[in-house]
Amino acid sequence: MTKLFLDSGDPKETKEALAVLGMIDGQTTNPSLIAKNPEAVGKKFTREEINEFYKGVVREISAQIPKGSVSVEVYADANTLAKDMIKQAGEFNLWIPNAHIKLPTTPEGLKAASELTKQGIKVNMTLVFNQSQAAAVYAATQGAKKGDVFVSPFVGRLDDRGENGMDLIKNILQMYRAGDGHVEVLAASIRSLEHFTKTIEFGCDIITAPLKA
Ligand code: E4P
Repeated sequence: MTKLFLDSGDPKETKEALAVLGMIDGQTTNPSLIAKNPEAVGKKFTREEINEFYKGVVREISAQIPKGSVSVEVYADANTLAKDMIKQAGEFNLWIPNAHIKLPTTPEGLKAASELTKQGIKVNMTLVFNQSQAAAVYAATQGAKKGDVFVSPFVGRLDDRGENGMDLIKNILQMYRAGDGHVEVLAASIRSLEHFTKTIEFGCDIITAPLKA
């Protein structure tokens, strides 16, 4: 059965989702969702202040879903090295007991994932736009336990640029069928009810959706 995550950087939305649905299996956050948190809008933060704010937010979320997974994303751009991601991941992973650390699926992000999964840190490989990235995640994290690695294809952003995001979900699920099941597919960047229902129809492992979806 497809697990349901909330895509939000606001603990109040966690509360609302729990009130409406009775349960959720997890929540995904990222720096832009955190910036949209009503308490952050319009404020200027230093990196240390951002980290403190982000820590407070994920702690509030984690306390509401202690048995679920909470994705916490590292700050990275095209030039960020694996060692910097590993350092942030180690720090963020101490904030809560149920973190999946989100890393970009770049060559450096994959190096970081390989090292972190060996240390027993759970990862959510994000910004996935093609099947080769999903294959690379599988290879980089071999040996990890099922549940410790998510791969996040960005359905809506692919649709935005004229490609078919749902086809990517279907193709990755099919490619992984021949494997050992250690990577779970998490459909992200969900924009519509059609994305939502199709993800479930395809038997995707996890879907993360905004509260309005
Ligand atoms: C979740 O993990 C992703 O960060 C999120 O779904 C991205 O959504 P967006 O394309 O709407 O930014």
